[in-house]
Amino acid sequence: MSLTNPPSSSGSLSRTRVGNLKRSLQATVDDAIESRRPGGYTSKVRVRDRYNIVGFISSGTYGRVYKAVGKNGKKGEFAIKKFKPDKEGETIQYTGLSQSAIREMSLCTELSHANVVQLEEIILEDKCIFMVFEYTEHDLLQIIHHHTQPQRHAIPATMVRSIMFQLLNGLLYLHTNWVLHRDLKPANILVTSSGAIRIGDLGLARLFYKPLNSLFSGDKVVVTIWYRAPELLMGSRHYTPAVDMWAIGCIFAELLSLRPIFKGEEAKMDSKKTVPFQRNQMMKIVEILGLPRKESWPGLTSMPEYSQLQSLVLHRQPSHFHRGSNLEGWYQSCLKNGGYASTSSAGTPGADGFDLLSRMLEYDPVKRITAEQALEHPYFTNGGPISGNCFEGIEGKYPHRRVTQDDNDIRSGSLPGTKRSGLPDDSLMRASKRLKE
Ligand SMILES: Nc1ncnc2c1ncn2[C@@H]1O[C@H](COP(=O)(O)OP(=O)(O)O)[C@@H](O)[C@H]1O
Ligand SMILES: [Mg+2]
Repeated sequence: MSLTNPPSSSGSLSRTRVGNLKRSLQATVDDAIESRRPGGYTSKVRVRDRYNIVGFISSGTYGRVYKAVGKNGKKGEFAIKKFKPDKEGETIQYTGLSQSAIREMSLCTELSHANVVQLEEIILEDKCIFMVFEYTEHDLLQIIHHHTQPQRHAIPATMVRSIMFQLLNGLLYLHTNWVLHRDLKPANILVTSSGAIRIGDLGLARLFYKPLNSLFSGDKVVVTIWYRAPELLMGSRHYTPAVDMWAIGCIFAELLSLRPIFKGEEAKMDSKKTVPFQRNQMMKIVEILGLPRKESWPGLTSMPEYSQLQSLVLHRQPSHFHRGSNLEGWYQSCLKNGGYASTSSAGTPGADGFDLLSRMLEYDPVKRITAEQALEHPYFTNGGPISGNCFEGIEGKYPHRRVTQDDNDIRSGSLPGTKRSGLPDDSLMRASKRLKE
């Protein structure tokens, strides 16, 4: 089966509809507050009336995720994301709902695409929001991890191609509808048991039509550092869909090599709360791509952190700084180590794969390939149909998502401090630690 073409812009959400949506959302929130007043109406739907909680999946940034099954005639499996209310006194909005929950709700209600996670319903209960999603058995973090156990074995090239194609279709849909994801990383890319890719976790997503908000206008962190685009590292205050495309390039590289390509260490904010230059992360990129040059990235010299980049060059002068890009060398050794060859059972992403990757990991955001262009790249158009089931023809099964019984009381009161820390949560070690929390 081949996937259908990306949606045309006629499927776009109109700005008015988004505006209306925000108003109707506000009305829902007002209703919920109203219901607390004496004589107000009582809550219509309760989570436990509609779902049986099977277990606990993950403690995320803003709340917890549970696995559930429908009851009273409602069929299927679901993932219920519970958002805790914002701490009192700390909130700007009187609603007491976190900005992230509101964002995710307003976007997910309107978005509908085969490659974007499907929202089933939203339930407001006891000052908490419960977002009910279709359940997905896997995610890319889990799949990548599985391929490192017990020893490394490459993800078949056809599977990588199907994942990338579906991912780009979902992203094109988001971008066509003026939505930036801003937190694309393997843990946020969900995969159903029938091999469909669903972009998840729209908690940091933003509408990017006017006004273009400043990067520092409220959010402490935008993209998890390993997937953060160079223009953001260089201090860009505005972001564009190119930021998501960089992250997609990093994910493509990680699917092939089973390791994050740019695994930097995050510099923490100092006591004055100034946003630090992410020197280490920038170095990781420079080690593979070479230094960004003003000839090929004209905007570079006017970037806020340009002087920092220069000092980085002055203070450390390893030879690789002054070479050009070594991405091709990185790619070739990745193919070799992964056993990707046209004669091998894993197949190969070949020269087209390299060309696409290099266009995604283009320093200049203006020149970086867009989702629409990427879908028309020879990597996808050459060489056979692309399955909408990334597991098609794959031997062996992937392990099911771990669901624990540690905490399956969806109504448990206060949640641990779950402020977005900006730390990459992409380690299964950390994920399993979180499970035990
Ligand atoms: N629809 C789903 N089905 C199954 N598991 C999910 C689903 N949505 C999220 N998860 C799991 O919960 C984790 C956290 O959810 P996510 O939406 O990414 O929230 P956060 O903003 O806290 O990272 C994901 O990384 C994934 O492992
Ligand atoms: Mg997440």
